[in-house]
Amino acid sequence: MAKNILVIGGVGYIGSHTVLQLLLGGYKTVVVDNLDNASEIAVAKVKELAGYQGNNMTFHKLDLRDKAALEVVFAGTKFDAVIHFAGLKAVGESVQKPLPYFDNNLTGTITLLEVMAAHGCKNLVFSSSATAYGWPKVVPCTEEFPLQAMNPYGRSKLFIEEICRDVHRSDSEWKIILLRYFNPVGAHPSGKIGEDPRGIPNNLMPFVTQVAVGRRPALTVFGTDYSTKDGTVVRDYIHVVDLADGHIAALHKLDDPKVGCEVYNLGTGKGTSVLEMVAAFEKASGKKIPLVKSGRRPGDAEIVYASTEKAERGLNWKARYGIDEMCRDQWNWASKNPYGYESPNSTN
Ligand code: NAD
Ligand code: UD1
Repeated sequence: MAKNILVIGGVGYIGSHTVLQLLLGGYKTVVVDNLDNASEIAVAKVKELAGYQGNNMTFHKLDLRDKAALEVVFAGTKFDAVIHFAGLKAVGESVQKPLPYFDNNLTGTITLLEVMAAHGCKNLVFSSSATAYGWPKVVPCTEEFPLQAMNPYGRSKLFIEEICRDVHRSDSEWKIILLRYFNPVGAHPSGKIGEDPRGIPNNLMPFVTQVAVGRRPALTVFGTDYSTKDGTVVRDYIHVVDLADGHIAALHKLDDPKVGCEVYNLGTGKGTSVLEMVAAFEKASGKKIPLVKSGRRPGDAEIVYASTEKAERGLNWKARYGIDEMCRDQWNWASKNPYGYESPNSTN
């Protein structure tokens, strides 16, 4: 019998790629999203890419904090597990407006946990972040490193991790997998789904992409005086399809009776500088990215990359793609959809 998975925030960037992998893997999915940071077109694209398995997906537009509406979703289907992506994620905005961040991310998660418990579904996979490591003293980051929040967004992730640990301590029937993502980039190789940020992108690769399609004149490089190979910050970029597959691995892990509340890094274990990433993207796209060198962005850690050992051992999962494939697929999506899902002359 196919398993039923509820995917909250499943229309967004990582969620849409994960829903597609779930459908292709034979799961039935119910997707919940308030479309606060997503386009409903992504739902249609995922359905199309999934072929006949696309019929195994239903979508409900609702806010996670609307407990009554969520109750109706749970009353309609008995879920084997929930994957929870929903949340606000713009770091800078979270500093300016912390309360909406805590309300959305914390209230949303607490509402979800309450409704799950009431319906006897106690299997959860949650999107945490490498931001939980703050400014690590050494790399690679292992899951045992001390945790440190650098901003309200990061604090919301740490609070939710702690809430999940407490919920599991209070009731050992809960099985919860906390996944700390490093830097997701790229798109599905079809070029039909990808990241579609609203407004000015905060993150490196969406910004680079918008320069390449002519929406912005140049990339501002934040900091060229770090103690790294070329003076720019080093990160662990991971292909979004690898990340999506990491969620399937986490679902398999939930079948293990010994699982309690566990945390895993999802990264590649490889560090890439800003300039290396730009060079890889230029190679993949054939476009020159003009650079403006500028001062450091406040709060940026110098070098962050994952230890992948625990995920390899515990989840039997390992990233398959490198930065060349990430840039190839990022460009494939962007060149076909220069304005994201709302592109007027989309070739999809
Ligand atoms: P995203 O914004 O594309 O997706 C989040 C989705 O959740 C959106 O579709 C949004 O409309 C929905 N949503 C937000 N609040 C909701 C609510 N109250 N009710 C219903 N739906 C709601 O972001 P993403 O990049 O796909 O990230 C998914 C998760 O992974 C987030 O929790 C994010 O914090 C986490 N994460 C992302 C990154 C990254 O760099 N993209 C890195 C680490 C962790
Ligand atoms: C960001 C988030 C972090 C999240 C992580 C995972 C911020 C401050 N932090 O971190 O919470 O967990 O993504 O995806 O948003 N850069 C430029 N020019 C730009 C944009 C970025 O030089 O226009 C540089 C940054 O200074 C950084 C690097 O590129 O050195 C990567 O930046 P970004 O993509 O924002 O990722 P993180 O900083 O790792």
